[in-house]
Amino acid sequence: MRNIIMRNELTAAIKKEKAILSCLEESVIKSVNARPFLKWAGGKQQLISKLEQRFPEHIKTTKQVTHYIEPFVGGGALFFYLKSNYKIEHSTIIDINSDLIASYKVVQNNVSELISHLKAMEINYLSADNEERKDIYYQTRQEFNLKAESFSNQLSGDTVERVAQLIFLNRTCFNGLYRLNSRGHFNVPQGSYKNPTICQEERLIEAHKALKNTEILQGEFELVKHLATKDNFIYYDPPYRPLNTTSNFTNYSKDGFNEEDQHRLYRVFNELNDRRVYQMLSNSDPKVYDPKDSFFDNMYSKYNIARVDANRMINSKGAGRGSITELLITNY
Ligand SMILES: C[S@@+](CC[C@H](N)C(=O)[O-])C[C@H]1O[C@@H](n2cnc3c(N)ncnc32)[C@H](O)[C@@H]1O
Repeated sequence: MRNIIMRNELTAAIKKEKAILSCLEESVIKSVNARPFLKWAGGKQQLISKLEQRFPEHIKTTKQVTHYIEPFVGGGALFFYLKSNYKIEHSTIIDINSDLIASYKVVQNNVSELISHLKAMEINYLSADNEERKDIYYQTRQEFNLKAESFSNQLSGDTVERVAQLIFLNRTCFNGLYRLNSRGHFNVPQGSYKNPTICQEERLIEAHKALKNTEILQGEFELVKHLATKDNFIYYDPPYRPLNTTSNFTNYSKDGFNEEDQHRLYRVFNELNDRRVYQMLSNSDPKVYDPKDSFFDNMYSKYNIARVDANRMINSKGAGRGSITELLITNY
């Protein structure tokens, strides 16, 4: 019964959202004020000003980029910042995670349906008591995982529903993070937020605007080799090389990111350096835990390596107190 009511409400809501959105599109909205619509592990929101300080000088001065490319886009903190504060003629975002990429495509192409789905999910969840909420959460998670294998990256009604489920889980799970286990299943338990906003309508609409003139690709970071040309600007934010055995979260996909992948990335960086592409890359600073570990200093020795304060504290007894630095490597 609850489902039938939800479906009717949903159809009416989709119509209303479409009307609102077409008004917005018509009023030629130029200004964008976008931020990530998903909370993503390793998100760079807190570090944006430090990244910006190290942009190429001409980009800082003109506030313009002809082609911006972000091959490990995740939640896209820097991408959304640039689209809101710089003139970006064209951009390409890439990630290996097909659900993440589907989310960007749905926000780009079907945002009104997505908003309607999320509104219905929000009403359903917030009007439920604690026991019912628990059932809704775990049922949604189970359905999300059951469909993981058969899910194809083609945009369809199913895709919008799946992306709505992903956002719902992201807004209601413990710590609001996306994490997969080795079987490729989303295994985060329910969080204990009292009144989570499941449908961040404003944010989704701003993200939709930001995604104009943006190519969205699912795949390996190496795709950049086929895309980047002279004077383009690339920001790489790969899964970090783990600093110690307890900080080894690199499982955004079930395949992880190992040292050989770091070497592969270095080879791409070199190749595009020869092509005179402006490149900036973040990674963990191994010297935080082991001053003798020069993994990245050796690898990127011919480039500029800055150590920036990551606004986080070391939480290990052996390493003493102090804030964690991260590496910011540039080829300009
Ligand atoms: C540190 S996160 C990026 C966070 C992002 N800068 C933000 O602000 O949210 C790393 C991203 O790389 C993606 N990734 C992992 N391995 C990849 C690969 N081989 N090629 C492309 N993307 C990959 C993950 O899915 C994840 O979204």
